[in-house]
Amino acid sequence: MKGIKIFSPATVANLACGFDVIGLALDFPKDEIFLYKSNKPGIRINKIHGTSLPNDPKKNVAFVALQFFLKKFQQKFENEKKIGFEIELIKNIHPGSGIGSSAASAAGVVYGANILLGNPFTNIQLIRFAMEGERVASGTAHADNVAPAIMGGVTLVRSYKPLDITKLHTPNKLWVSIIHPQIEIKTSDAREILKQKILMTDAIIQWGNIGALVAGLYQEDYGLISRSLEDVIVEPIRSMLIPAFYELKMKCKEIGALGGGISGSGPSVFMLSKGTHIAKKVTEVMNHVYSPLKVDYKTYTSPINQQGVQWAKIL
Ligand code: HSE
Repeated sequence: MKGIKIFSPATVANLACGFDVIGLALDFPKDEIFLYKSNKPGIRINKIHGTSLPNDPKKNVAFVALQFFLKKFQQKFENEKKIGFEIELIKNIHPGSGIGSSAASAAGVVYGANILLGNPFTNIQLIRFAMEGERVASGTAHADNVAPAIMGGVTLVRSYKPLDITKLHTPNKLWVSIIHPQIEIKTSDAREILKQKILMTDAIIQWGNIGALVAGLYQEDYGLISRSLEDVIVEPIRSMLIPAFYELKMKCKEIGALGGGISGSGPSVFMLSKGTHIAKKVTEVMNHVYSPLKVDYKTYTSPINQQGVQWAKIL
């Protein structure tokens, strides 16, 4: 096996109350990645389509995640020194969109490399390597995008030290509507504006919501999911960065959305709905709210992707 074609999904992190801990994978959009194993040591990014990403390899998330993978692989198998990789990225997920563009690159390359080398690492180890890519992209090695990108579905990070991640049950009628206003919000900036200390009263509301959201997913109780999609800690601060955020949220809920919030660190906003029909109506409302504004935007409607990153073809 010389090479592999991979599809790596967009993801929604911070599922409302789940800042840094709950995320989900989308069916659409997804990146395409071609990864080739080579006998020439080192990692080379041959082509990037669809956007411009840092040429400096130390700032490129795919490079950094794969370098971390390779380092661990060579520590594990000491006589495998002559391995290298060639990467070609087709970026359909816009960098800086808030739907896990950097995570898709990082998760995709480590997943592909693992297959090319005979699956030496577990999913948790792959998530750990991909998190190094996130560290480069945002200054923090958060896992709430790379975990669903690799495991699929809705994932929960119980702990970062040690890394303890679990995939949650997802009701199969749960759909996601996304609007991506094309303004730039850097994750590092969106983290910087957050308070480092929170009120006990807010914490009580937040952990009640997180527990109930998990229960709602398992019980397939859409009412409970809807009541739990509330974030009293991060959203009140970050929403200032997103045009018409509260109008968007209110109108989407009026038409039948269960609820939603800021996707990752923004600027994308997500809404969850029960069923395709309502999800499509919610996406239409998103278009409606944004069309009079002087902001370019894109919208997506997607089911939840249960597989996560997948290989499509052996090359
Ligand atoms: N949990 C991260 C944050 C996700 O909100 O900063 C970034 O995509």
